[in-house]
Amino acid sequence: MDSTSELSPLTRRDFVRASGLTLGASALAGISIPYVHAQGSDQLRIALIGCGGRGTGAAVNAMAQIGSPKLVAMADVFQQKLDNSFKSLSAKFESQVDVGDRKFIGFDGYKHAMDALRPGDIAIFTTPLAFRWVHFKYAIEKGLNVFMEKPLTADGPTSRRMLDLAKQASAKNLKVGVGLMSRHSHAMQELHARIQDGEIGDINFMRGYRMQGVIGSAFSEPWPGQPSELLWQISRFHSFLWASGGGFSDFYVHHVDHLCWLKNAWPVKCQGVGGRTSRIAPGGKTYVDQNFDSYSVEYTFQDGAKLFMDGRCMNGAVPLYSSYAHGSKGMAVVSKNGDCGRPSSTYKGQSPVKENMLWTSPDPKIADDPYFNEWQDLTAAIRNNTPYNEVERGVMASLVTSMGRYATHTAQEVTLDEMLNHEHEYAPDADKFTMDSPAPVQANANGLYPVPEPGIKTKREY
Ligand SMILES: NC(=O)c1ccc[n+]([C@@H]2O[C@H](COP(=O)([O-])OP(=O)(O)OC[C@H]3O[C@@H](n4cnc5c(N)ncnc54)[C@H](O)[C@@H]3O)[C@@H](O)[C@H]2O)c1
Repeated sequence: MDSTSELSPLTRRDFVRASGLTLGASALAGISIPYVHAQGSDQLRIALIGCGGRGTGAAVNAMAQIGSPKLVAMADVFQQKLDNSFKSLSAKFESQVDVGDRKFIGFDGYKHAMDALRPGDIAIFTTPLAFRWVHFKYAIEKGLNVFMEKPLTADGPTSRRMLDLAKQASAKNLKVGVGLMSRHSHAMQELHARIQDGEIGDINFMRGYRMQGVIGSAFSEPWPGQPSELLWQISRFHSFLWASGGGFSDFYVHHVDHLCWLKNAWPVKCQGVGGRTSRIAPGGKTYVDQNFDSYSVEYTFQDGAKLFMDGRCMNGAVPLYSSYAHGSKGMAVVSKNGDCGRPSSTYKGQSPVKENMLWTSPDPKIADDPYFNEWQDLTAAIRNNTPYNEVERGVMASLVTSMGRYATHTAQEVTLDEMLNHEHEYAPDADKFTMDSPAPVQANANGLYPVPEPGIKTKREY
């Protein structure tokens, strides 16, 4: 589920079918309703900022919506990434890709791309998280609706900034979707409703597991000398806490988010253990990134309930990628496989055995693509002018995830207040970056970047 969600070459009819819109007359009727843009035109325009795997996937999800939204501008810091994305999107949505020469390379490209939109259009932010607040601030100034990918922040200062920007966006009646897609899975929505109705009683503890081999750009060998160190770190963003919050934030935020949603609360504190077994790459070079390979975090809620989040990037270890909630009367398999992989199900007692099953979500073959659904919900809110702003909860999910990472990296108990009010900003002046800027973390003479040292560095992660 945590793939880019970029769909294989499908026709528009396939997208409609995949979205479930073929299932009912009312849904079909929905397609023919003339779409009226808030500003009077009949077609939403989109600008894509960050044209990698997820950005391309999000643009696909966007263009498959009612009214056939049109892609009119693209921005990236790598020409190749933009070109690949443009090619792939043009092949799938020839008549909806109208980018022309509005292709912008560089750290200020986001401004030019958003300048190509009209108030009420949609900007997509799918760069690594370091640039979220920078891009969001400009979108609010321009009166644009936004879809931004998770996570939203990695540290206290940018979390506070984003919470403030969220208020500004709501004050301007902008609609903002955040790519924590679990909450848009219809199966998980029904599970949430059942848990609120008391089907498994009061939730006492929850478990999230994302354990796999070495994925993404989490482990990095030394900078090869080109492209610039800044661009290289961006291209390997899972390796650097300033860019992504590291593997912990990027990979585990979905489970943290959907489990907290089921509990209807954010944890107030946490502690964690973790470490790095090997820093030597298979070819013999030293890994220089800032990640641990194993994390186990115990979050505590105000009522004493616990959430355990285990994460591991380790080849050869047993894989496990699922989540569970345990209540006073029963339990739930929340995500059977992946970030929000169906079926979700509930049980009497604490074992997920068939004879104890109370409910299971519909057959996974029935369309319920949360990546599509989140766009359906965002564009419906724009069409109907209903309040829609997922940023606050996106920040809180990111902050709770950062708190777990921070507690593990420092070997301290950390409260949510401490994390929110921490003064260490990991990518200061991200709004002023140019192609010549130095990278936010610098290597020592041996090419090694600062890494967490639990129990030694206790006031900052690095
Ligand atoms: N919701 C999900 O399931 C899901 C899945 C995958 C990725 N994501 C999120 O999407 C984001 C992007 O991930 P990805 O896998 O697509 O990575 P990617 O590296 O494929 O794409 C990121 C793109 O942003 C560009 N970029 C970086 N900084 C930029 C800047 N300042 N201005 C313009 N462009 C810039 C990069 O060059 C790259 O093309 C991450 O935050 C990731 O966590 C979410």
